[in-house]
Amino acid sequence: MNAIDLPIAVLDSGVGGISVLRELTRLMPKEHFLYFGDSQNAPYGEKSPEEVLAITRSNLKMLLARGIKALVLACNTATGAAARILREEYPDLILVGIEPAIKPASLVGDHPRVLVMATPLTLRQEKFCTLMDRFSETSEILPVPCAGLVELIEDGELEGNRLDNYLEKLFFPHKDTKIDAVVLGCTHYPHIKEQIAKHLPHEVKILDGGDGTARETRRRLSAAGLLRTEGEGHIEILNSSPDPSRIDLSWKLLNR
Ligand code: DGL
Repeated sequence: MNAIDLPIAVLDSGVGGISVLRELTRLMPKEHFLYFGDSQNAPYGEKSPEEVLAITRSNLKMLLARGIKALVLACNTATGAAARILREEYPDLILVGIEPAIKPASLVGDHPRVLVMATPLTLRQEKFCTLMDRFSETSEILPVPCAGLVELIEDGELEGNRLDNYLEKLFFPHKDTKIDAVVLGCTHYPHIKEQIAKHLPHEVKILDGGDGTARETRRRLSAAGLLRTEGEGHIEILNSSPDPSRIDLSWKLLNR
């Protein structure tokens, strides 16, 4: 098979990266995609960086053995823990990661106050601290660690009491605060964007990095002469969990 016809692999700790796959397929409908959700190991965001690196490395090896032309690391947590090192280990691989969309959020108004929702591990990593430092002069950035939220989404709790209670408690400390933007710094969260909006104290711009990651992937493939522009695209979804409901949930989220 020609390299151009190989699939683009999209990797996440579970169903989260489907929010990025949606942007990728919208932008590059002629491409083939191989999505791997590692729900068996979710949540990555409550593991150590070393564990997330080891898991991501082993998932990448498995995907390379199947034959892929690029890897989209559709997980903020894994990008922070593994992208730099895996780029050194595989210098010829097109590897595109994702990071919290603080840059566009910092442009929402004058010295905006920005809530950054992300996993505890993303917010602890050097990559995030550097990003936050870069924009802290022009914006007020408030990290909001969301331990336990990925598990709710993995369980398919996309609305209802459990999610309402979680979000109500999460935003309680900010209920009297004027917020200018909310960054969804975990690829699971765009799946519950409407629920998040409902629990914020007022209407706010909500941003995520999915579209930027899709555009960067297209740019890298095009520069390498690997962008597929003809024929019909195909999507395959795999999951490490023995529970088939994760694959069903992935398709449901993709087609919403
Ligand atoms: N979807 C992953 C992210 O973007 C997080 C997942 C997890 O904690 O497993 O950070």
